[in-house]
Amino acid sequence: MTKYLALESSCDESAVAFFCDQSRCFEERIFSQIASHAPFGGVVPELAAREHLRAFPQLLSELAQLCELQSVDRLAVTCGPGLAGSLAMGVAAAQALSIWLDRPLIGVNHLRAHALSVFIEAWRRQENLDRCLPHLGLLVSGGNTLLFWINERWRFRIIGETADDAAGEAFDKAAKLLGLPYPGGREIERLAQDGDSDAFSFPCAFRPQDLKFSFSGLKTALRYFLKKIGTDAIEKELASICASYQAALCKALLEKFFYAAKTFAPKSMGISGGVSQNLYLRSRAQNFADLHGLPLLLARTELCGDNASMVAFAAALDPYRTQSADDFIPNLKIDDYS
Ligand code: KG4
Repeated sequence: MTKYLALESSCDESAVAFFCDQSRCFEERIFSQIASHAPFGGVVPELAAREHLRAFPQLLSELAQLCELQSVDRLAVTCGPGLAGSLAMGVAAAQALSIWLDRPLIGVNHLRAHALSVFIEAWRRQENLDRCLPHLGLLVSGGNTLLFWINERWRFRIIGETADDAAGEAFDKAAKLLGLPYPGGREIERLAQDGDSDAFSFPCAFRPQDLKFSFSGLKTALRYFLKKIGTDAIEKELASICASYQAALCKALLEKFFYAAKTFAPKSMGISGGVSQNLYLRSRAQNFADLHGLPLLLARTELCGDNASMVAFAAALDPYRTQSADDFIPNLKIDDYS
């Protein structure tokens, strides 16, 4: 039995989790900074770092009420990628705890933690995860958009990336253009429920065969469209604009995801990251998976955004699934945070 204490602070969520690999239980406390950043329409890096500094002592003392923190065997912390100031707060706190408790500290790659989060539910049901391999994953968050492959030996390879904006960023920037609050993905999804996704047409960059994403053209198309139709029409058609934009963005993601699934024939598919909470995206991916008899692995919604449970899980899964130099999303050395 190994017990882990994990910290996450790559962007604007401070999170701490306690995890026991025998009971397969997680206890987690998350503090979201959304309210502090919302007035600025996006994350302010300097403010984010200060908020982490304030949040960690409080979160750790809350967690200590629920579990015996001094009984942990290992600590884990997100070392990158992310905002340097935010990462530094989590890494410094984890280093201090590691010295105080005299326990080893594992540096976890944030992208690797998101990518592995889709396996948590199957693992809790005691399923053999090796049966899910090879796995095709789509990681869609506020800062990253990746298509990746995990082979039978748990080695990662990136097969597609964004040439410009990330998918979550494309949602957030569109929301800003529409005068909606930050973060915009959830708000666009909420408004889209009452709209017609075929009402307006927005462009998709690259053919499905090009495993490369691009969202800056989509955002620019929305900007020109809004300028053309004017304020009154925007107000009247807001729900359908949101529905059409969401459909175009999800189409751009899923066309390539489905193309890669048909081409490379994985044993399972997964979608992770904050944008994977989007129900329109989930339902379309599920239809494809059902049609092709492929398991679609999705994290529970509270494990889609930034959280420390996925960091603990990534640290726990890795020691016996050794990494190698050919791994494209390796874990990181503690000193490498950036
Ligand atoms: O994974 P995450 O918490 O942060 C990063 O590591 O970047 O993802 C945050 C992103 C934001 O861009 C937010 O707008 C988007 O996830 N998001 C959504 C939804 N919920 C959050 N996008 C679309 N639909 C949602 N329901």
